[in-house]
Amino acid sequence: MKKLVVFASGSGSNFQAIIDGIEKKEINAQISGLITDRQESGAAARAKKHQIPFVEIQEKNPDQFSNKIIEQLNDWNPDLIILAGFLRKVSDSIVHRYQNMIINIHPSLLPKYGGKGFHGLNVHKAVIDAGDLESGCTVHFVNEEYDRGEIIMQKRVDVRENDTPTTLAARVLKAEHKLLPTVINKLLKD
Ligand code: GRF
Repeated sequence: MKKLVVFASGSGSNFQAIIDGIEKKEINAQISGLITDRQESGAAARAKKHQIPFVEIQEKNPDQFSNKIIEQLNDWNPDLIILAGFLRKVSDSIVHRYQNMIINIHPSLLPKYGGKGFHGLNVHKAVIDAGDLESGCTVHFVNEEYDRGEIIMQKRVDVRENDTPTTLAARVLKAEHKLLPTVINKLLKD
């Protein structure tokens, strides 16, 4: 059985979409564990509820942070690592060690609205301010640069006339929950 490790900092709704995909047998894999950098994140609560092992790594020092993650990954030995709303940068040493094995989900049609500063509602505000008629989400491989790794798949959503960043974010998030399990499935089969 293929092994997944998920990294998440926030509410963990994308993490939940992976859990649901496995429970519904849409994804043929198991989750070895969750790494979170936030104490009591929503994602950690979901791990607890579904009896998935999780670790909270809160080292401030980037090298120590990275070393702790590597230790944990050595233990879990994943086939695929999924960044699902993970707010800290994954070090180059991890990226090199797990080349083409780390994916990230981002709430825009990259390369638009990616990189530093483009997270959370900022992304959706920028889309609305620019007058774009469509937005969406992207799953891409993680490389050394924020949101710049090779794009694997995208899902589009309409931007509606009366959208606020919050309503657009909710529509994009729904699309994320469909896109992420689809991509995981595809990569595990390839
Ligand atoms: C998602 O919008 C994802 O694209 C971004 O962070 C958010 C995480 O949301 N990278 P959740 O914690 O999965 O609900």
